[in-house]
Amino acid sequence: MSGSKNNHSKTLRHIHVSELKPGMYVVDAGITWASRPYLYMKEGLITTEEQARRIADEGYLESYIDLTRSTRKFEVTPFKETFNLEETEKPFLFKPRVPLAEEVSAAAEVHDDTVGYVRNFMSDIRTGKLDMAPAFDFMGKIMASMERNVNAMLSLCRLRRVDSYTYMHCVNVSVFSSMFSRYLGMGENKALCLGLSGLFHDLGKALVPAQILNAPRKLNPEERALMNSHPTLGYEQIKDIPGITPEVPLGMLHHHEKYNGSGYPSGLSGDSVSKTGYIIALADVYDALTSKRVYKDGMTPHQALGIMYEEMRGRDLHPELLNKFIKMLGVYPIGSVVEMSDGSWGVVSGCNVDAPIKPVVTLVRDAQGHAVPETDVDLSAADVQLSIKRCVPAETTNINPAQVLRLPPGAPEHNC
Ligand SMILES: [Fe+2]
Repeated sequence: MSGSKNNHSKTLRHIHVSELKPGMYVVDAGITWASRPYLYMKEGLITTEEQARRIADEGYLESYIDLTRSTRKFEVTPFKETFNLEETEKPFLFKPRVPLAEEVSAAAEVHDDTVGYVRNFMSDIRTGKLDMAPAFDFMGKIMASMERNVNAMLSLCRLRRVDSYTYMHCVNVSVFSSMFSRYLGMGENKALCLGLSGLFHDLGKALVPAQILNAPRKLNPEERALMNSHPTLGYEQIKDIPGITPEVPLGMLHHHEKYNGSGYPSGLSGDSVSKTGYIIALADVYDALTSKRVYKDGMTPHQALGIMYEEMRGRDLHPELLNKFIKMLGVYPIGSVVEMSDGSWGVVSGCNVDAPIKPVVTLVRDAQGHAVPETDVDLSAADVQLSIKRCVPAETTNINPAQVLRLPPGAPEHNC
């Protein structure tokens, strides 16, 4: 049936499934499922309203119909990708409801437990097992913590244990994805789904042979192809699980697609990449750049966002979504070590979503480098003249942001 579109291209119409009506003849347009996972292409005549409704209920979004094989004339609206950045609900701005010091223990506990869960499922999937039920519970707890005080979870995401990077990374991607979804105005359930998609985004890597996954060399073309199949391998594992909404596998499938079409597995571009995929990609790139790995030091969040903006905006990443992502995290994200305009030093301890260059800073050193009593200064306050001069890697100073932020004892070393 792959020739249908070519042979009848003048009579084919690409429509949203909500337009399907009795009398329309659906055709298989010869498009692969991987490039359009929600294309309904079971060929045949739609005979009842119920049949048309069922197709939409099953989660399909689009379909091709052949006008000449339909039983009567139809006026149809061409399919348009709904890529609505402005969600109907109001953005959630994460105003802290409890002090940071009060939230860090609960946040650390759920963060650690979720890392443990990721470790288990990445191992279990190799034997064909996948218990997704705990993931809903962990995501619910992560989101509840973020709503109490988002800075606790964000500061934990900035800590790294080098030996568990892969697992920690999955949790961090889920944190950034669900937070960003809420910030974009999605409701709690949808944001939770985006968090799940982030948590499982690299599930397929567990199915790539270890000697390829961990190869300390350039991969040959066959090995690269296998490595690049990890979004598809992960998608295949999740897509048919009952109770999982389409956003979860779709984000996994699209997290390495790029805005300019140079990504994989399908080379989709622009609005053909799902919004979910773009959200997971932003979280994935940001966390990877700021992570301390065995072979490299992580960048400061400030440097990472700069690179994403200057080098990846509109190339790899969706430009408008990237702008919003930066706005959400602030130009100086939580935990950044900063030098102030008067030469004093501090640690960013709170973000002002409406004033990204004016966060809350806890001052810890004077201009001569002497310790001073820790004082919180909200740079967005009208009577404050102080501003940030620059952001530096923490290891080039004698300031320990984890200590300043009062993270729980035993928290791993800070990476910036
Ligand atoms: Fe990946």
